[in-house]
Amino acid sequence: MRISVIGCGYLGAVHAASMASLGHEVVGLDVDEAKIDALRAGRAPFYEPGLPELLAAVGTDRLTWTTDPAHTAGARVHFVCVGTPQMRGEFRADLQYVEAALAAIRPYLAPGDVVVGKSTVPVGTAERIAAELEPTGATLIWNPEFLREGFAVDDTLHPDRIVYGLPTVDGVTTPAGEAARALLDAVYATPLAEGIPLVVTDYATAQLVKVAANSFLATKISFVNAMAELCEATGADVTALADAIGHDVRIGRKFLNAGLGFGGGCLPKDIRAFMARAGELGVSDALRFLQEVDAVNMRRRVRMVDLAREVCDGSIVGRRVAVLGAAFKPNSDDIRDSPALSVAAQMQLQGAHVTVTDPQAITNARTKWSDLRFADTPEAAARDADVVLLATEWTQYRDLDPHALGQVVAHRRMLDGRNVLDPAVWRAAGWTYRGMGRP
Ligand code: UGA
Repeated sequence: MRISVIGCGYLGAVHAASMASLGHEVVGLDVDEAKIDALRAGRAPFYEPGLPELLAAVGTDRLTWTTDPAHTAGARVHFVCVGTPQMRGEFRADLQYVEAALAAIRPYLAPGDVVVGKSTVPVGTAERIAAELEPTGATLIWNPEFLREGFAVDDTLHPDRIVYGLPTVDGVTTPAGEAARALLDAVYATPLAEGIPLVVTDYATAQLVKVAANSFLATKISFVNAMAELCEATGADVTALADAIGHDVRIGRKFLNAGLGFGGGCLPKDIRAFMARAGELGVSDALRFLQEVDAVNMRRRVRMVDLAREVCDGSIVGRRVAVLGAAFKPNSDDIRDSPALSVAAQMQLQGAHVTVTDPQAITNARTKWSDLRFADTPEAAARDADVVLLATEWTQYRDLDPHALGQVVAHRRMLDGRNVLDPAVWRAAGWTYRGMGRP
């Protein structure tokens, strides 16, 4: 199948390479020349484990990259994979990149083509796009994406489920919708043959599935972080609590890791856009709890700054703070709404001298937070530090040797913002250890 993928970021670049690896002929389109140049040279323009290997394995015969929308002509299926960030100063999603992507490919669409929406959008957007596409003879399918950064290749090729939102009239899929579905089934023939569950539904449900899933994940994290607040007030241990309730299969242990909370380019902006959309639909009460989810999440960052102050005898002014981690989570160089950088910046603003390190995200972090100092290794960041904060749980930080790190710091004070270190081991090595929601 000839396919185009519009938007070559964390989602689109991986999707394009993955579809080519399934045997399709793919062209990836982006407005960012530097990104396209890198991809043309076989380089991943961002850090995503497995993507460089996938690009090398696929080669350039079936996978091309372009900034010219005319090169999408002849493709039968067009995946829209552009970002939908939070609108500046508002909770709503900014749909300008979706609009621009559709405008760019529109002149090259042919009757019978399928446009597949993968970007996360407010419910109702697909219906509008479908109507706008009607004169072109192309059909829209809404096919939300659930990949996690850091596992994007595997999640794309072996997703937990595939969701199709098809055009319907009175609850019945239209003939054009059935034809479009047959084309998308052919694109996904390999994963579907593996038995990956397929949920076929209407546009509204498909769009809601995506934001409902992210809202549930965000709620799960904020739930356990709310429990962490209770644990802090009572001397209880939130990690033991999470283990215990997680054994109940109805609850499950995944996404119950208390700590600095969620960040990234998805969960925070998605719950906010969802609340904004609910308000427009007149059902804001239904999602009022997401305000609390957001508030609990942001309180964790404040709590971390308070913890630093506590262990530094009441003030962080003039204190040297080493922050281990800049990415919003390990195995990514993505710093969008990173809890680690948010806390680092807060401490810096409150008078601390902050040095941040990260295995992959320093370049991105430096661009956005030029006031912070950066170091290449945890040892360099922690040199003469009054307190060390583990903010992103990279394996290399989980595996740090408390004795070796103890040699370079001024004071052995460790704040474990992700509850991944063994308190007994660090305390035995002479460190003051504080986790989040742990005694
Ligand atoms: C999230 C969803 O997990 C994906 O399913 C979805 O496709 C994606 O958003 C998206 O909408 O594109 P991602 O943003 O890559 O994926 O990151 P997650 O793995 O969900 O982690 C989000 C944040 O939650 C991170 O900051 C992480 O540190 C934090 N987290 C996660 C916790 O604080 N505790 C946990 O137990 C789990």
